[in-house]
Amino acid sequence: MKGLILSGGKGTRLYPLTYTRAKQLIPVANKPVLVRVIEAIRDANVTDIGIVIGTNTGAEIQDKLGDGSPWDVNLTYIMQESPDGLAHAVKISRDFLGDDQFVMFLGDNVIEGGISRLISDFATSEWNSQIVLKEVQDPTAYGVAKLRTDGSIEALIEKPRIPPSNLALVGIYMFDKTIWDAVNSIQPSARGELEITDALQWLIDAGHRVYPHVHQGWWIDTGKPIDMLEANSLVLEELSPCISTDAVITDSEIDSRVTIERGARIVNSVIRGPSIIGENTLVENSYIGPFTSIYHDVTIRNAEIERSIILENSCVCDLVARLQDSLIGRNAQVKHSDDKPRAIKMNLGDHSNVWLV
Ligand code: G1P
Repeated sequence: MKGLILSGGKGTRLYPLTYTRAKQLIPVANKPVLVRVIEAIRDANVTDIGIVIGTNTGAEIQDKLGDGSPWDVNLTYIMQESPDGLAHAVKISRDFLGDDQFVMFLGDNVIEGGISRLISDFATSEWNSQIVLKEVQDPTAYGVAKLRTDGSIEALIEKPRIPPSNLALVGIYMFDKTIWDAVNSIQPSARGELEITDALQWLIDAGHRVYPHVHQGWWIDTGKPIDMLEANSLVLEELSPCISTDAVITDSEIDSRVTIERGARIVNSVIRGPSIIGENTLVENSYIGPFTSIYHDVTIRNAEIERSIILENSCVCDLVARLQDSLIGRNAQVKHSDDKPRAIKMNLGDHSNVWLV
């Protein structure tokens, strides 16, 4: 069995953070989503993994992940020159995949409980494909399944205006070599892409066995800032807390569900979990509330922060109100100033959002 991770795409819904970086590299609970995907595949004993990258962010992804050895996997990079769809990404991975069975995982998906069971079920089955479905509130943003009363799939429709059910296709798929006829037979959809949903429908219509597994745990497609915060909260809940022996904690109150990474300094502060404080970060005279991930080399001073993600080298200092439900990028400065005239001063990138009280 091989693995295929799709990690192209521009991540436009996460602008401005993704103007300068791949969305799959944004950390959730201080670990990039893409690394979580690699670990989930590796934990299912699949170590030969192809990563489909795009022209904009491919170099950064390659630079970050290298040959995969830190995670005990072998990575092969496959360049998708233009974003022509998930089935197109499969098509261009033909040489890497050969006729092997494979699991395809979208590099921005986070799922509870891993995929080991799914992989072993598929590997020991007679199925040609296995898909994962999850009940969602708004199925129109996803591929949607219509099941028969016996639980088999009647139809799969990509982003339907009137959804036939609330069962969305999760970005995790398993295939055998019958997928090659499917991806070579379908035509681009209305949005101009070769859809994996259409390839699956082709398999069903051709009489191949596509098994639908309905996932009971949580699943997040981290497309938007609100999804990142939600995924961050859920992953933090799962984390086994750990305080590095290398961290320095002075005059502070640290909750039991807090992870503090090496070199971090906590001075005269209160930290409530679940939360994580990254390497070499300083938290001073501050309150860090639940569901917060502060990444490496950040300075938090005289501030209160809750349910937020703060990325590396940023500074949140001297705030007069609590920062909440926020996603702060790298090298950002959020500060109070007493300079006259008293005014709100901003230096925001394109597509930034600021909510003022
Ligand atoms: C893709 C698939 C869709 C699936 C979703 C899961 O959508 O086309 O069927 O439900 O991933 O994340 P996209 O992210 O391309 O909009």
